[in-house]
Amino acid sequence: MTYAAITGWGKCMPPAVLSNADLSTFLDTGDEWITSRTGMKERRISHVSATEMAVVAARRALACAGVDAADVELIVYGSCSADEQVPNSASGVQAALGATKAASMDVNTACTSFLYSLSTATALIRTGVVKTALVIGVEIISPFMDWDNRNVAVLFGDGCAAVVVQASDKEEGVLGEQLGCLADARQTLRVRGMGTAYTNRNVMSGDTEWDFDGQEIFKRAVQGMVQASQAVMKKCGVTPDQIDLVVPHQANLRIIEAVVSRSGVPMDKVMLTVERYGNMSAATVPVALAEALEEGRMKPGALVLLPAFGAGLTVCAHLVRWGDRVTPLGLSAAELPPLKKTALELVQEIRSHKARAQSAAGLRSARLIETV
Ligand code: ACO
Repeated sequence: MTYAAITGWGKCMPPAVLSNADLSTFLDTGDEWITSRTGMKERRISHVSATEMAVVAARRALACAGVDAADVELIVYGSCSADEQVPNSASGVQAALGATKAASMDVNTACTSFLYSLSTATALIRTGVVKTALVIGVEIISPFMDWDNRNVAVLFGDGCAAVVVQASDKEEGVLGEQLGCLADARQTLRVRGMGTAYTNRNVMSGDTEWDFDGQEIFKRAVQGMVQASQAVMKKCGVTPDQIDLVVPHQANLRIIEAVVSRSGVPMDKVMLTVERYGNMSAATVPVALAEALEEGRMKPGALVLLPAFGAGLTVCAHLVRWGDRVTPLGLSAAELPPLKKTALELVQEIRSHKARAQSAAGLRSARLIETV
């Protein structure tokens, strides 16, 4: 039997930190509300494209696994914030790395994109199609955030991490997963103003308005992740007391607490990054995985539960058996270019660019366009 072991990991976090206090300089919000409702204190704002972050994270993950880019046979790029629709972003990573043998695809299931990408790579390795894959979870939400909407602007951040997955004879990597989609609730989270629905409708592409029903998403997310976690544990014959570490999607501390307690796992087994990074969508789970390894919280042979949800509403839970190695084989010198601006300055640039463009005559509100 062939398994698909995770043998390398690397993250790339943009350096600019946007605090709750920064947000309250232009929004009617404050640290007390944000911290008590979400557990978030800070998030990162990227000064580079998503692909640039992905290339740095990928180089670090490859060095960690001791794998040459030339030996990668598959790149799966999990994200809902592609730099461009065509060509796909995975091909940009392939070109930058020189991974010329690699089939390259993008997967967009919003915040679950990394885990759906991991399922894709695992399936293609376990069925013998490829032996070595690079799986990326990356998000750059700041350019399409509706920065004047306090319901959403405080919740999200930018970031990236990648893992290397390789064929193995040992029972490692994804042991099982439960994937699903609560499409009857897809209207609860919609980013209007990006995509072909808005073409030729006098809407400025990227001038987004978010439909967001926070309380409904909250309920559905908790139910969906608990059910998916229970289903995958049952499928794999695992009980909650056997779980060594939970690395959940980090959309809200209260969601994580509800999911973990209903799944029967104690909070001290949970890896948290939500306070420092907010919700980085597809990047939250791989960044938290990389930090669990950096902080020595991942033990050799650990059984790890990864529950997540995203727009769609997509839900999933993966059960992963970690291998023997919890330290990198090598380190990469790859770095992002330096930055002279603050996160608040980067956000203000995005806001003023949109305001200037909006004031160009006759633009329509994306919210007025009917979609499915
Ligand atoms: N600052 C201050 N007040 C705010 C803010 C803010 N940033 N945002 C909303 N409010 C106000 C609202 O206007 C509302 O005021 P009103 O009652 O006068 O109308 C009030 O706060 C709402 O408060 P609560 O109902 O207590 O908020 P709740 O406890 O539901 O928390 C939250 C809101 C944080 C959005 C929560 O519902 C949540 O986390 N939902 C899930 C969100 C999520 O996970 N999103 C990700 C989706 S999927 C993905 O990951 C892509």
